[in-house]
Amino acid sequence: MDTQFTSPTVPTSGAFVVIIGDDDFQKDLDGRMAGGLTKIKNLPDFKGKCGDHVIIPAPHGLDVSKLIVVHAESAEHTAQSLAELGGKIGSILLGTREEEAFVLVPYAVKLDGCSARASAHIAHGLALRTWTFDKYMGKKENKKMLVRVQISSPKIADSKEFFAPLKALESGVLLTRHVVSEPANVVDPAYMANQAKELEALGIKTTILDEKEMARLGMNALLGVGQGSVKDSYLVMMEWNGSGTDEAPLAIVGKGVTFDTGGISIKPSGDMDEMKWDMGGSGVVLGLMKALASRKAKANVVGVMGLVENMPDGNAQRPGDIVTSLSGQTIEILNTDAEGRLVLADALWYTQDRFKPKAMIDLATLTGAIVVALGHEYAGFFSNDMGLAAHIKAASVKTGEKVWHLPLDDAYDQDINSTIADVKNIGSGRGAGSITAAQFLQRFVNNVPWAHIDIAGTAWDKKGKALSAKGATAFGVRLLNQLIQDQYETA
Ligand code: BES
Ligand code: ZN
Ligand code: ZN
Repeated sequence: MDTQFTSPTVPTSGAFVVIIGDDDFQKDLDGRMAGGLTKIKNLPDFKGKCGDHVIIPAPHGLDVSKLIVVHAESAEHTAQSLAELGGKIGSILLGTREEEAFVLVPYAVKLDGCSARASAHIAHGLALRTWTFDKYMGKKENKKMLVRVQISSPKIADSKEFFAPLKALESGVLLTRHVVSEPANVVDPAYMANQAKELEALGIKTTILDEKEMARLGMNALLGVGQGSVKDSYLVMMEWNGSGTDEAPLAIVGKGVTFDTGGISIKPSGDMDEMKWDMGGSGVVLGLMKALASRKAKANVVGVMGLVENMPDGNAQRPGDIVTSLSGQTIEILNTDAEGRLVLADALWYTQDRFKPKAMIDLATLTGAIVVALGHEYAGFFSNDMGLAAHIKAASVKTGEKVWHLPLDDAYDQDINSTIADVKNIGSGRGAGSITAAQFLQRFVNNVPWAHIDIAGTAWDKKGKALSAKGATAFGVRLLNQLIQDQYETA
């Protein structure tokens, strides 16, 4: 999205979005419309919540093609409520099929007492909500029209300054959505590794371990998942050292199964296409690293992606196989569809061993059970550290990427003891599938503060959300960006 900030003006083409206010500019505008704005404000069906709106085609006294009048609550705004207001305007604009829009923000709409800051957050939400994945749509009527938005600001330079880090975040979110949306015949492990390599242009140090190196190290849990695929598996590290010191990094680890057929424990055909986004966790890591480097975050962060394709073939892993993981623990594989935890077992172990992080957070589209428990609103999260859990919850509340804290407990851990190896990769069928998956991961985490976020229900949304159109959401990028900003950046 081409986002610009300008002084309040009356545009002469495109869609004109007026967020209701009663400043002098709007009084003039009302005069020019012969009191039309006041009449709209007083419409009986135009009272109530933030985001309520009316659309007037060919409005009297104006040259624009459509006037869209939007109601914004007068109560105190937050960064998130303003982004959501921008998102609401964005979704209205998508429906109008205009190419250009001008959004008039009244002086009364402020964030921390600042109207220029409010404009930046409205712009951010608008850009996020209007991104769509239409590159494969041949017909123009199926493609998005909106390309350029101007947002009014009383202080253009200030708005630009406030918007710069949000634009960096936007670029990360959109990269995540892009790689999650692309089908698995495009996004395979090598594609993801190349994307990580491209981030070197932003100052990130990328290291790629190929199958030979991983075999030498002993990453048999990860390699076993990829062995039925003709595509090579990779473990990719992206280091961003923005703190200016050599302090230990925060590590973010993502499940990157570029397609999950289930392997020999093959999934049913219905909805199997959705398993193209089983690399969603690694997509979040990639986009987050792009955002951090683009805004030059003053923190040391390492992003790690475990990249494999889970396919059934003559060389595929079998149920009953036993592999020795990098940690030395042996794993009995009783279901080849519980593959994400196998990839993460080696990725987590390697990450804590090599980077000695001060904390480690993994994201994974790990279990169908989390969708049963929480649907598509909340991601489930687990942690061995109450402080880290509280920080994640706080960042979640600020960004509207909702998470629900679920328990880890020795009693659940018992459920993954194997009779023939150190651990088995599924529970005994007594429910709590998301928890036993988390317990499995915890066996590959030592004393480092760690959290696991199961994004199987939130990485993709069929309906569309406040800040995303239907499809890939990039859930986790904004949450972790906020966490890093609040807890890991030096001033
Ligand atoms: N990738 C799936 C989890 C998933 C399911 C993500 C639905 C998004 C939507 C994961 O690899 C998987 O297949 N998990 C199994 C585990 C089971 C075999 C213990 C599951 O959840 O059914
Ligand atoms: Zn699976
Ligand atoms: Zn999977």
